[in-house]
Formats: sequence, structure tokens, C-alpha cells
Amino acid sequence: MTDELLHISGLEKRYPTRWGGEVVALRGIGLTIRRGDFVALRGPSGCGKTTLLLCAGTLLRPECGQVLLQGRDPYALSAAARSAFRAAKVGFVFQNFHLVPYLSVLDNVMLCGLAGAPRATLETQARKLLEKLGLSHRLRHRPSELSIGEQQRVALVRALAGGAMLILADEPTGNLDAANGRILLDHLAEFARAGGAVLMVTHEPAASDHAFTRLDMQDGRLLDSRI
Ligand SMILES: Nc1ncnc2c1ncn2[C@@H]1O[C@H](COP(=O)(O)OP(=O)(O)O)[C@@H](O)[C@H]1O
Ligand SMILES: [Mg+2]
Repeated sequence: MTDELLHISGLEKRYPTRWGGEVVALRGIGLTIRRGDFVALRGPSGCGKTTLLLCAGTLLRPECGQVLLQGRDPYALSAAARSAFRAAKVGFVFQNFHLVPYLSVLDNVMLCGLAGAPRATLETQARKLLEKLGLSHRLRHRPSELSIGEQQRVALVRALAGGAMLILADEPTGNLDAANGRILLDHLAEFARAGGAVLMVTHEPAASDHAFTRLDMQDGRLLDSRI
């Protein structure tokens, strides 16, 4: 199996503005993420970090360039097949968690299990992951009944539940206090050491210091080469 979980080349993304202009958000990005990587992506607000993460996860289609996930081009697939492929290959963690408010912790995690897997299998796997992240005693809670740190750990479990080897995280510690931030970062590091990979956008030095590698971005470009 290939070590390259994500390979990006020549990526360009523009956003049209409502008054007929455009914002050039990505200006030719090349990037490879391999198993074992924990990369912090840094840069000033507006430099294109979130756009890059969304394109890498195929949630946003670039105008130019290629995104390969484990050697495959998701855009060669139909939209439905691409969704299933994305769910199997990529887990997302966002600053604002994006948990479903009216579902329990267990159901939030199971929601992102692989389509087609039997419910019992999904539940066993979800319980195991929740236990690993110290959430066994919160299975029936709803997100609003959890601490902020617990909510972000549920979001991480959900990202892991589909079996994806690549985690894309956008300011995952942005809403956490220092102690909870460290717990989350330790889990991300452990995931990478176990053969997964993490690409994490952050502007917090404590978070980027935790990553194994740091990449700097400015005005739609990466300042360091990593291909
Ligand atoms: N949907 C959008 N429509 C128009 N412009 C956008 C949109 N999303 C982002 N942008 C612009 O693209 C640039 C990059 O945004 P973003 O990737 O969110 O930066 P970052 O995450 O580094 O703060 C910014 O200048 C932002 O204003
Ligand atoms: Mg952003």
C-alpha cells in the first residue's frame, strides 16, 4: 500500500465575488502527506489555509491542479462515489466541532461510519474509539451536555470512525483551553505515529510545536516545498 495519503500538485482556487471580481485563494500549491506525518499549516488569516484544507478533502473543487487521495483522483468518480470515497479516506475536525445537536454522542459518531456497514459493527467500533478517548461515560449525552474539550474529542472520534488514515483539522484547538488542547494534540500525534497522518491548520504556537513538521503559507502559496 502506498505511503502517500495525499498528493497535491499545481492547485489553484479562485472565489468569484458578487460584484464580478475574484479572490485568488490558492496560487499553485504542491504538497504531499505521507503515513506518519503530523504537519502544522501556519499563516496569516486570509492566506488560504482553510481553502487548501477543503480542496485537499475534496469538499471544494479547485480550478486547476490535482488532488490524489491514496493515489486516486476523487474527481474521476461520480459525485456519489466521491462522497463514499471521501468518507473512507478523510476525517475532518473543525474548530466549531459541527456535531449534530439532537443526536447522542454515540449516534454522532455512528453517523459517520462507513455507509453499508452493519449497525452492530459500527456501534462496537464507535464504543471502542469513544472509550479510547475517555468518553465511555458520555455515550448518551448530547453535545450541549458536554464540556468543550469533550465535544472536540467526540468530533475527533467521529473523524476516525470511518477508518480514514488522513485527518484534516482546521484550528482544532481554537476553542479549547490549554489542557484540553494538549489532550487533543496528543491524540493527533498518536494517530500519526500509529501510521495515520494529520494535516492541521493552526495559528497557535503551542499547537504547531506539537506537530512533527511545520509549513508556512502566505498569500495562497506555501513558503516551503514539501512534495
Ligand atoms: N466563499 C468565499 N467567497 C469569496 N471569497 C472567499 C470565500 N472563502 C474564502 N474567501 C477568501 O479567500 C481567501 C482565503 O480564505 P481562507 O482559505 O478562509 O483563509 P484562511 O483560512 O487562511 O484564513 C480570503 O481572502 C477570503 O476572504
Ligand atoms: Mg481558516
